[in-house]
Order: sequence, then structure tokens, then C-alpha cells
Amino acid sequence: MSMTMSAAIFKPATTQFPAAAFPTTTLSRPSFITCSSSTTTTFQTPSLSTTTADRLFNFAAGPATLPESVLLKAQSELYNWRGSGMSVMEMSHRGKEFLSIIQKAESDLRTLLNIPSDYSVLFLQGGATTQFAAIPLNICKPDDVVDFVVTGSWCDKAFKEANKYCKPKSIWSGKSEKYTKIPSFDLLEQTPGARYLHICANETIHGVEFKDYPTPINENEVLVADMSSNFCSKPVDVSRFGVIYAGAQKNVGPSGVTIVIIKSDLIGNAQPITPVMLDYKIHADNNSLYNTPPCYGIYMCGLVFEDLIAQGGLSEVEKKNIKKAGILYNAIDESKGFYRCPVEKNVRSLMNVPFTLAKSELEAEFIKEAAKEKMVQLKGHRSVGGMRASIYNAMPLAGVEKLVAFMKDFQAKHD
Ligand SMILES: Cc1ncc(COP(=O)(O)O)c(C=O)c1O
Repeated sequence: MSMTMSAAIFKPATTQFPAAAFPTTTLSRPSFITCSSSTTTTFQTPSLSTTTADRLFNFAAGPATLPESVLLKAQSELYNWRGSGMSVMEMSHRGKEFLSIIQKAESDLRTLLNIPSDYSVLFLQGGATTQFAAIPLNICKPDDVVDFVVTGSWCDKAFKEANKYCKPKSIWSGKSEKYTKIPSFDLLEQTPGARYLHICANETIHGVEFKDYPTPINENEVLVADMSSNFCSKPVDVSRFGVIYAGAQKNVGPSGVTIVIIKSDLIGNAQPITPVMLDYKIHADNNSLYNTPPCYGIYMCGLVFEDLIAQGGLSEVEKKNIKKAGILYNAIDESKGFYRCPVEKNVRSLMNVPFTLAKSELEAEFIKEAAKEKMVQLKGHRSVGGMRASIYNAMPLAGVEKLVAFMKDFQAKHD
């Protein structure tokens, strides 16, 4: 087979990153590569003809939009990571290059969330869904009771999975009110002796978000939070939690990386049936390198963490998120009922904004017309219908402003 490969034309990206752990080398343009054999195939390597103007505003709930500066940085480093002669995708996870990447990612995450030194940070695989099993397996005995505040479908899933490994109890459920509320903490009847209290800090499908956190009543009980869809969207006092876990693919990276922040003294008591891949002690003892980790995903998370630090940290990020969400919720609330958000005002999510149209027959048209204007993935989750705009950290203000302008236009045409 004869193959002529024209190599990609690399355009070094300008980014706002602080000095990297490894010196950034100037990207040289690779020369043409020719492989010869009997048949001829031409592999046309794409050149970088795409620009910001070609990108959509992606309102998907996850995998979701990533910061443009991060994508450009990753692009510039894809072929030859900082002079290593390799892509991050090709590196040994035990080599010094990748070790520097994962260590920097952890240290930046610790800086961002101000994670106390007696907490371990694990970069795992399997998604947040795997943690629904891993958490009870690691911190409960089979007869332990654990309390769940079921504020939406994700917490309900975690509750059902925990049922296989401990004795979960739903101490509050918002199901009868279509998951539009978060209870007052005084009303929670927590179980004496419960091992942990589980919450989902932000329900991605229903758009309800805890603005504060309940305190477990028992002495040795810990608070466990699924923060998949609001991880690193605002400062969090980590010391209030025993475990925080998050799939990366909403706010801090691509799919394939799950981050677990756990108080170190909770590690080491896993049930005997715990698979090795779910055993936090194995991962903590091996610095998340017991087996091959999702290296490229961890690298991307690291770039996102650098970007969040460069923005001024999570207090600054939160301000931007409050502003974006405020613009969108105001547009909904001021539409005189044309648009409606079902969620109680004081617990509305800064990240996932569900809304419906009074004239529900127009919803499909809304989604179609928005897509024509380069605003995509606005369809609500199949279980709730309507629309949902996910406006994670990386959604620019311009994206929200464009959506709001579109909504006003759409209303003027159809009201
Ligand atoms: C709040 C929440 N928890 C858990 C999950 C499951 O995550 P994963 O797909 O990483 O297993 C999701 C996915 O959307 C989510 O939004």
C-alpha cells in the first residue's frame, strides 16, 4: 500500500495560561510523511481552517462545551506535548511527563477548591455512576443505614444502586412535586446511626441546586455529594464533606474521568466483595495509577483547572455563573408566562436551566429554530420534556445573551 500523508499545518494557539510545568516548545511544522506499498491511498490531513466563528453555542448537559482557550491549548500540544516528542495520548502513564501532568492537575484542583491536606484526590474511570456503588462499598458495612435526600433522578439512581451494598433510606423525596424543590434542612428526619447522608448537589435533569448543605446528625456520619454538574462552578467548603464526586464531562473536562475527593480516614475499610477497581485504598495508595488511567482526559481536566485559576479562581467563576444564570432566569420570568421554569426560585440551578413553553406545541420549533442560529442541544431531558439550557463555566456570556435575544424574538413572533 502506498500512502501519502500530508501533515497537519499547526497554528500555535495564543492562550492565557500561566507558565506551564514543562517549557512549551515552539511547534515546528512537520514535514510531509510518505509511506510506500502496493496500493495507493491518500490520507488528506486536515489543515486548521476552522475558526471561532465556526463553533456553535453548545447547551448540552454533558459532555458539554469546553473553554475555547483550553481546546486551542490542547490542539497546539496534541502532536508533540511540550517537546516530549509525543502526544499525551501516546505517553506511558508511568513516565515523568504524564506524572507531571497528573500531579499538576491534582495540585491545581487542590488550590481551586482549597482541599484540606487530610483529603485524597482520586482520578478514576467509570463515570459518576460507578461511584453510586463504590461509595457504599468503601465506606459502609452491608447493614449500615445511609440517608438519601432524593431531589431528582440522579440521586434516585444513586439511592437504588446503594441498595445492593447497604441499607439506604430515602428521608425526603421531591418526586411527587416533579423534583422542583429542595427541602428545608430542619424538616429532614435523619436516621440515628446512619453512616452517611447523600445529596446530589445539582440535579442536572431537573435544574435544582443546593445553595447550602445539610449537616449529618450522627457523630461518625459524613456528608456525601454528587457534584457532577456543578463541580468547580463555585467555591465549596470541602471540609463539610466526607466524599465529593463528579464526572468531569460537564464542567471540568471530557467524559472518561471521574474525580473523587475523599477524607483520607474514610479509606481502607472496603467491603470484601469490592472489586479492585472500586477500592479507594488501591487508587489512593497508587496515586490514581494502579492501572492505566484516562490519561488524555486527566490532561484536559488539568488544562481546565489552569484556566479556572487564570480566571481568578472559583469566586470569580461563580460571579460569572450568577450573572449568566440571572440573565436567563430573568428572561424566563419576564416573559409573562410565555416561558416558564418549574423550579422553586431559591433553588434554581446556576448550571442547568430547564424551561417550558406555555404553548408546548411550539417547543420543537423553538429547538429547530435555535439550532439554525447555531444554538444546539436545547432539548430537555426525555424524562421531563421542554427545554434545558446547560450553561456551565465554559458557556460564554455571549452564548447566554444570544439565547435570550433569540427567546425574545421567538416570543414576539408567536405570542
Ligand atoms: C448529577 C449527575 N450524577 C451522575 C451522573 C452520571 O454520570 P456518568 O455518566 O459520568 O456516570 C450524571 C450524568 O449526567 C449527573 O448529571
